[in-house]
Amino acid sequence: MTPAEMAAIHAAAFTRQRPWAEVEFVSLLDDRTTRVIEVDGGFGLLLVVAPEAEIITLAVNPAMQRRGTGRRIVEAMMQEARDAGAATVYLEVAAGNLPARALYAATGFEETGRRLHYYRFPDGGSDDAIVMARAIDGPVP
Ligand SMILES: CC(C)(COP(=O)(O)OP(=O)(O)OC[C@H]1O[C@@H](n2cnc3c(N)ncnc32)[C@H](O)[C@@H]1OP(=O)(O)O)[C@@H](O)C(=O)NCCC(=O)NCCS
Repeated sequence: MTPAEMAAIHAAAFTRQRPWAEVEFVSLLDDRTTRVIEVDGGFGLLLVVAPEAEIITLAVNPAMQRRGTGRRIVEAMMQEARDAGAATVYLEVAAGNLPARALYAATGFEETGRRLHYYRFPDGGSDDAIVMARAIDGPVP
């Protein structure tokens, strides 16, 4: 998947957040700590600095949603994190992003914190970030 294709899926999937430009994906992919998970209709970017890993973004083309693609990407990222020696996978998600929060809850992530007004949107609004974590093995530390 090219950076341009990632930018297109990201822009279609995220309706409220500022879309990330192709050049931002180019620079993320250049970083040796970034790992890419590609599946038909979606992708995820994972940052691994063992023993921690972080989901940087995850997007599924709206026309392909609710078919298990997001779940497959999350599980592939967990496997990638394990292979890279990570013990815990973290992420931040906007409090109002109910589909993503449901996906992460369904895949075993637990809420570990909240950052108030973390996201500022182009429409002038803001939202809190929910911090979530899932241990590779056993309970969240
Ligand atoms: C969040 C997102 C990646 C989910 O992708 P998806 O392919 O539709 O997810 P799946 O089909 O694998 O769903 C797995 C589970 O997550 C939950 N879920 C996913 N979308 C949901 C929705 N719109 N409403 C409620 N629950 C939802 C359900 O529990 C679902 O299981 P089920 O279909 O058996 O009920 C997708 O909606 C998306 O790209 N959203 C915009 C980008 C985004 O928010 N990314 C994450 C930001 S950190």
